Amino acid sequence: MTHIKLTKIAQSLPNAVPFVGPEALERQRGVAFKARLGANESTFGPSPKAIAAMNAAVQETWKYCDPENHDLKEALSAHLGVHRDHIVVGEGIDGLQGYLVRLIIEPGDAVVTSLGAYPTFNFHVNGFGGDLHTVPYQGNFEDIDALIAKAHQVKAKLVYFANPDNPMGTHHRGQDVAEFASKLPKGCLLLLDEAYADLAPPEAIPEIPVKTPNVIRMRTFSKAYGLAGARVGYAFGPVDLIQAFDKVRNHFGMTRVSQAGALAALADQEYFKHVTGLVAQSRTKIDKIARSNGLITVPSATNFVAVDCGRDHEFATLVLNGLIDQGVFVRMPGVSPLNRHIRVSCGGEQEMAAFADALPDALRSAG
Ligand SMILES: Cc1ncc(COP(=O)(O)O)c(C=O)c1O
Repeated sequence: MTHIKLTKIAQSLPNAVPFVGPEALERQRGVAFKARLGANESTFGPSPKAIAAMNAAVQETWKYCDPENHDLKEALSAHLGVHRDHIVVGEGIDGLQGYLVRLIIEPGDAVVTSLGAYPTFNFHVNGFGGDLHTVPYQGNFEDIDALIAKAHQVKAKLVYFANPDNPMGTHHRGQDVAEFASKLPKGCLLLLDEAYADLAPPEAIPEIPVKTPNVIRMRTFSKAYGLAGARVGYAFGPVDLIQAFDKVRNHFGMTRVSQAGALAALADQEYFKHVTGLVAQSRTKIDKIARSNGLITVPSATNFVAVDCGRDHEFATLVLNGLIDQGVFVRMPGVSPLNRHIRVSCGGEQEMAAFADALPDALRSAG
């Protein structure tokens, strides 16, 4: 037993992790999954050009990465149409969220999010002693008006909002998101998590000038670009806030391989379009499989679909465990009433066939 005393904040934190990975489940079961449909990864994989670039970069892994992420920031600058001073690159959205919270949240500061929204954000807020306030979803949607009202009520410093959201896959119109930002209290920052923006319809993407002082947007190469394991995300927003990341970020947190992969993936827009087409087909397929088992789905703007198991949390958990027992890894929303759904990531023919094979038995054994 160590005699080293943890900080008060660390002592107050539960010994829990936000996600149990599929690898841990595989170790528990002693068998590999047939279909990995629980973490909203892209089973279609990255562009072959990105794979070639990463292979080439492996030869150079004796060198540290470029800590300024210069080339990737230049490419993102052209892609987004914003100057590179407005962009910071980091270890996925997860890593960037941690830096942002560290930069602006002190113990006791009020932070607002939706009940059941992406848990890693909450994990960071708790880790820096922020005071989380939640508002429930309205049906399958995050409730913008309630988030605004709560932000005013608790004098929030930070509001988290994902569009499209996880775990339901729904989205709000871009103009409503822009209006949301304009209605927040003075001194309150909107963290707009756009992990799934690349897969969403254009109407979901708000037109918010990058200089807007109270909005920071975060996107990732983990979803449509198929690079979840490479850990590449980026944030864009007002220059002073973006530059502040340099005070706290892990300057050598990227790898050369990840930088090369993301750069090549971004350049291969043909492959990107191909994948977004496959994702759309897979969403339709998941819906078809669900319907043929008497279930309905939530229309999704992401690379996953929430399938309504039609009863309560207990029943959905049995269905989920039934799928896992048959080698199909899926997850489910964490809170009621969203947790009567299971969340199924898009995949190729083999994964969809495994899901279609396993679902009838999972429903039968769930009773
Ligand atoms: C809403 C949301 N934000 C962020 C992430 C994580 O992104 P990254 O892999 O870039 O850390 C996910 C992944 O599932 C997500 O659903």
